[in-house]
Amino acid sequence: DSFSVSLDELTPDTANLLKAAEQLKNSDIPVAFPTETVYGLGADATRSAAVNGIYKAKQRPSDNPLIVHFASLEQLRKLLSHGSDPMHSHLNGHATDGRSEELIPKIYHPLISRFWPGPLTIILPNPTDSLLAPEVTAGLGTFGARIPRNILALALIKQADVPVAAPSANASTKPSPTAAEHVAYDLDGRIETIIDGGPCDVGVESTVVDGLSNPPLVLRPGGVSIEQLRSCSGWEATEIGYKNAAEQGSQPKAPGMKYRHYSPKAPVILYEIGKSAPTLTELRDYLGPQRKLGVITTKRWRVDPISTEINDQTITSPDKKRYSELINHKRGFAGMLQSMHQTSDPGAAMQVHQVQRTHSTWQLAEIPLGSDIANIARGIFAALRELDREQVDAIFVEGIDDLEGDTAAAVMNRLRKAAQLKVAG
Ligand code: TXA
Ligand code: MG
Repeated sequence: DSFSVSLDELTPDTANLLKAAEQLKNSDIPVAFPTETVYGLGADATRSAAVNGIYKAKQRPSDNPLIVHFASLEQLRKLLSHGSDPMHSHLNGHATDGRSEELIPKIYHPLISRFWPGPLTIILPNPTDSLLAPEVTAGLGTFGARIPRNILALALIKQADVPVAAPSANASTKPSPTAAEHVAYDLDGRIETIIDGGPCDVGVESTVVDGLSNPPLVLRPGGVSIEQLRSCSGWEATEIGYKNAAEQGSQPKAPGMKYRHYSPKAPVILYEIGKSAPTLTELRDYLGPQRKLGVITTKRWRVDPISTEINDQTITSPDKKRYSELINHKRGFAGMLQSMHQTSDPGAAMQVHQVQRTHSTWQLAEIPLGSDIANIARGIFAALRELDREQVDAIFVEGIDDLEGDTAAAVMNRLRKAAQLKVAG
């Protein structure tokens, strides 16, 4: 394999990592660890009691299949070789190298060499007599496998020497954790160990792909884009297998009507391109008269905070209709903000701040995520959590354009799930 981790030097950090690996291997209390996407809550995927510990800590019913994390292809092949061929596995422990190449379906080989270690999960057949605990696969004949590229994750899994089942390390329904503090906030008292690797690089979960179906499918958008996938041999015809914007309802939904996911305490109001804008009255009806509103702006281009004039120099769309949709979206969002929040200091809008309106009882806490899509992905979950800490009553999010690519689509996919009320655009 083209990557390796050495734990030869015994520093306090490696001692702690070894201790965490020991817990992962032997305890039924899961261990939180960083990955390049989001923090994971890991357990030995071969032990039911350990996997159940994940659901207990997250306070979530165990109805979803979990992704299984490996430190190397060798470790993955070892799992796949067990039980898939009784003759081999019983006589030799596991299959020989030449044969084990075939254990991973050929369709995945180009993806593995290009994207692993990295934010990609592949769906594999679960061998008969698999060592994986049934709680991991939720009764399916397949399982999701991934090799993360975070060095601490790789070291932990390698040292524990077990396949590691790990969903995101948040409490059920909350935004995924992209920093160790987020995990501590949600799971304090429920777990014993968090490995702190600083903020996550990518910020949204891995892309999940199914190469066992024809054509191959993207089951969840994430860190690897569909364009990147389609450029790989055998993946040219890859299709989207999750609900995209067009398939999702655009009607405003009452709070509590939908299953909550990625949600902060405050209801999320997502302002989406191509949908009709809410009136100020509608929003006031929804939120009441005396409220503090959190706003996450994505500043795809500059808006004058006073005049609704839009500086459109950074909007580039060859499609005229799309261009005017984008302009209208931005103008609508700016207008909405202005009607709630009259500031005379445009520079202040660039900072996280709170503004007391002079002629109403609305307050605003604003987090600008900037225009870069990778930065937006990296910051979106943390922004939702930060506004909860500010104790806002609702969070107004300026959506981005799905057509900007898969990272944008991944962000919007998560935001649509988080949103309690879908308005606008
Ligand atoms: O980025 C990530 O993937 C993060 C970090 C911690 O690695 N992990 C993560 O794991 O998001 P988890 O267990 O929450 O992801 C579960 C999702 C399921 O909702 C499903 O979409 C997909 O992975 N999945 C897992 N096993 C599957 C299977 N056998 N068939 C189809 N989808 C599966
Ligand atoms: Mg999750």
